[in-house]
Amino acid sequence: MSRIAYVNGRYRPLAKAQVSVDDRAFTFGDGVYEVCELRGGALIEEKPHLDRLGRSLAALRIDWPIGREALKLVMREVVRRNRVRDGLVYLQVSRGAARRDHGFPPAGVRPGLVVAARPLDPSVNAARAAAGVAVATTPETRWAHPHIKSLQLLPNVLAKQAAREKGAFEAWFVDRDGFVTEGASTNAWIVTGEGTLVTRQADDAILHGVTRAALIELAAGLGLRLVERPFTPEEAKRAREAFLSSATNIAMPVVKLDGAPIGDGRPGPVTLALRGAFLSAALMRP
Ligand code: PDD
Repeated sequence: MSRIAYVNGRYRPLAKAQVSVDDRAFTFGDGVYEVCELRGGALIEEKPHLDRLGRSLAALRIDWPIGREALKLVMREVVRRNRVRDGLVYLQVSRGAARRDHGFPPAGVRPGLVVAARPLDPSVNAARAAAGVAVATTPETRWAHPHIKSLQLLPNVLAKQAAREKGAFEAWFVDRDGFVTEGASTNAWIVTGEGTLVTRQADDAILHGVTRAALIELAAGLGLRLVERPFTPEEAKRAREAFLSSATNIAMPVVKLDGAPIGDGRPGPVTLALRGAFLSAALMRP
């Protein structure tokens, strides 16, 4: 079965799904995107993902390409046509296609919209969570607005690739003051020796992860003490546990940072409790 994508009003087989070379996402990374997890056919945390899409669009002054309700229908139709039950929906909005000019295009240029879906094998993710993953730190070189979920992702791409080449699953950016901001595509967490959950406050230096927010809520329900503050790689190496979070990764144990084992080098109980709570809660949401 060939995969189907929605591109600017039409459902097309992937091989025929095309955007203009003048699309500003292509020429400038001038657009925003969302990744929403699908589990058992349900879109997980759909509302906060669409809320954040609205904030990203507003921050870049791009109009919604179609109404929010219409977009929800398109997402469901793409899922249906691709017959995905477990996986993800990717959606991307650009400022549209216009003659290349750094300034915004003239009024009347319509935003571009692409929606695609693909399956993921949940057992691969579960096996990874059972073993935990490694992380490598990297200097923070990204643009000054990482809180906007923009397509300006080249530094993230380079950081992820560099981490992979060091045998790590993820990169953690470190800012000028020596603090971890977040991962190339995930938020960063530790559990201190005293059992306190620590993740950076949702300032302009990080993307306000939907999964991060959900885990904060679940942590309270589990009676965990949480402090939102920056931490250094050194503190992370001394921590009892560390993990990363994002749609599809949920809470993924980090067992190694820059080659040093974290805790006993195995996924920790707090991480796994949060992961379990998220999975149970996700399946119970409408
Ligand atoms: N990335 N930080 C960054 C830089 C991200 O790109 C992401 C998500 C997150 C976690 O956000 P959330 O919990 O809302 O997924 C944090 C998506 C999954 C991606 O680029 O594939």
